[in-house]
Amino acid sequence: MNHKSIAIDGPAGAGKSTLARKLAEKLGFLYVDTGAIYRTVAVKVLWEKADPADPAQVIPLLEGLEIHIGYDSDGVQRMYLEGEDVSAAIRKHKVSGVASQVSAIPEVRAFLLDFQRKLARESNVVMDGRDIGTVVLPQADVKIFLTAAPEARAKRRLLELEQRGEAADFDAILRDIKDRDWQDEHRAIAPLKQAADAVLLDTTHLDLGQSMSQLLFLVKEKIK
Ligand code: DC
Repeated sequence: MNHKSIAIDGPAGAGKSTLARKLAEKLGFLYVDTGAIYRTVAVKVLWEKADPADPAQVIPLLEGLEIHIGYDSDGVQRMYLEGEDVSAAIRKHKVSGVASQVSAIPEVRAFLLDFQRKLARESNVVMDGRDIGTVVLPQADVKIFLTAAPEARAKRRLLELEQRGEAADFDAILRDIKDRDWQDEHRAIAPLKQAADAVLLDTTHLDLGQSMSQLLFLVKEKIK
C-alpha cells in the first residue's frame, strides 16, 4: 500500500512542529519531527566531546549509532539515543547550534536519509524539517514551506522560553535565529529552500489558530 506523506519545511521558529503535530493528529497520520533526529545526533557529539565542526570527529560516531523514535499514547514523539530517552536533552539551547553544525556534514545527512524515508514507507506521515520536500520525500503528496519574519519568530521563541521560566533576551534570540537561518540556507548539501512545487505559508501576521486553518485548507485541497 502506498502511504500518504505531507512535507512541511521552513526555518527555525516558524511554528512547524506545533502545526505539523496538530495536522498529523487531525489526519490520523504519524508526526515526524526530523529536527529532533538531527538533535539526537548532536547529543551524541556532545556526549563524546567531539568537535561538531570537524567531520573527521563526527563521522566515526555514526557507525553503530543507535537512534530510535518512539511515540507516547497521545502521539508525542520521543527520541532515544543508545536506549536513553533524550527527548528533554535535545531541546537544550546548546544542542540547537550543534545540530545545525552536524547537519551540514554530508555523511550525517546520508545516514539520516534512509532512517527518515523508512518512516514514510511504513506510515502516513506529516514530516517536518528543512529538506523534506526537496530531498527526503520529493514525491510527497503535499509540500508546504512554512515561514515567518525573523523578528516574529524571535518573539514567539521569547514567549515560549518565558513560559518555561527560562531567562531570555530578545536580541540574543534574534541573532541566534538569523545565524541558524544563514547556516541552514548556505550549507552545500540539502540547504533550507522552498521546493519548486511547495506552497508558501507565511505566518508572520497569523496566530496559531489562523495558521492552522490555512494549513488545513491547503492540505485538504491536495488530499481529497
Ligand atoms: O527544526 P530544529 O530546529 O529542531 O532542527 C535542528 C537542526 O537540524 C537545524 O538547525 C537544521 C537541522 N535540520 C536539517 O538540517 N534538516 C532537517 N530535515 C531537519 C533539521
